[in-house]
Amino acid sequence: MTTGFDYVPAAMPIAHAVRELADVFTWTFEVPNGFAFRPGQFNMLYVHGVGEVPVSISGDPAIPERLIHTIRAVGTVTRVMDGLGEGDVIGVRGPYGSAWPIADARGRDVLVIAGGLGLAPLRPVILEVLRNRASYGRVTILVGARSPADLLYRHELETWRGRFDVRLEAIVDRAGRDWFGMVGVVTRLLDVVAVDPHDAAFVCGPEIMMGFAVRELEKRGVRRDAIWISMERSMKCGIGLCGHCQLAGSFVCKDGPVYRFDRIAPYLQVREL
Ligand SMILES: Cc1cc2nc3c(=O)[nH]c(=O)nc-3n(C[C@H](O)[C@H](O)[C@H](O)COP(=O)(O)OP(=O)(O)OC[C@H]3O[C@@H](n4cnc5c(N)ncnc54)[C@H](O)[C@@H]3O)c2cc1C
Ligand code: FES
Repeated sequence: MTTGFDYVPAAMPIAHAVRELADVFTWTFEVPNGFAFRPGQFNMLYVHGVGEVPVSISGDPAIPERLIHTIRAVGTVTRVMDGLGEGDVIGVRGPYGSAWPIADARGRDVLVIAGGLGLAPLRPVILEVLRNRASYGRVTILVGARSPADLLYRHELETWRGRFDVRLEAIVDRAGRDWFGMVGVVTRLLDVVAVDPHDAAFVCGPEIMMGFAVRELEKRGVRRDAIWISMERSMKCGIGLCGHCQLAGSFVCKDGPVYRFDRIAPYLQVREL
């Protein structure tokens, strides 16, 4: 895409670094005019001498010059990233991959289901839908986290929850006495909100959670071609050349990460190559 950083990483200093959770942080880069991305796309982020990883863009598509990534420290590269901060320079290339089809969902009810860090790639969807609120029907956001302390973007969740034109429900796997909400898996929230068979559903989280969410949506009459999920696979090139991210007949970096469920259903349980 000509509006991005093409295939050569652009060296970019971290403009702002914010701690979200014990092992999760958000970086903001100030990028040149002309950069644009679609909700659901990702960048390859490179730490010099350590390695490169795919990370979804979690910022506002209407403010693309503020490029935002939220990252969980899980392994070799992301743990080193966790030790970096404002002023440190990262290699950035992208944006790559497919997008959530939010324009096609205009006129319909929108259901967003996020498990854990799955909220990061869905945040641009929520911001875009809320910006064009009148173009959509009912907007429902369901969020699951391990514990209340693990709720990502908590302040923003509270803001969205405070709106009359949005239904936001959160649930946690476990909680102490200071949590007055529901406890359980995120799919339990489908029992307390209205689900219409014509909803456009955008689902992101651990693969097993997405599988259960789809099953529950189907029970409520939502068709597979109205459900979209975002897949993760290990990546090297990010541009459809190396084959590292193969998922059956597709490359997650190019054909995904966002897939219409009916197109990916047979492969949801396929192990990484
Ligand atoms: C399209 C796409 C978008 C992504 N968006 C984001 C994002 O917005 N934020 C983000 O934090 N991550 C995101 N990821 C996942 C991120 O790319 C990986 O966490 C990262 O590549 C891990 O690299 P590493 O070198 O730190 O860990 P590795 O050294 O490669 O892995 C170390 C260990 O962590 C495990 N592991 C790897 N990935 C994950 C994971 N996602 N969750 C839990 N355990 C894992 C591995 O199985 C291994 O045991 C995305 C991945 C893809 C494909
Ligand atoms: S990461 Fe190389 S083909 Fe997808």
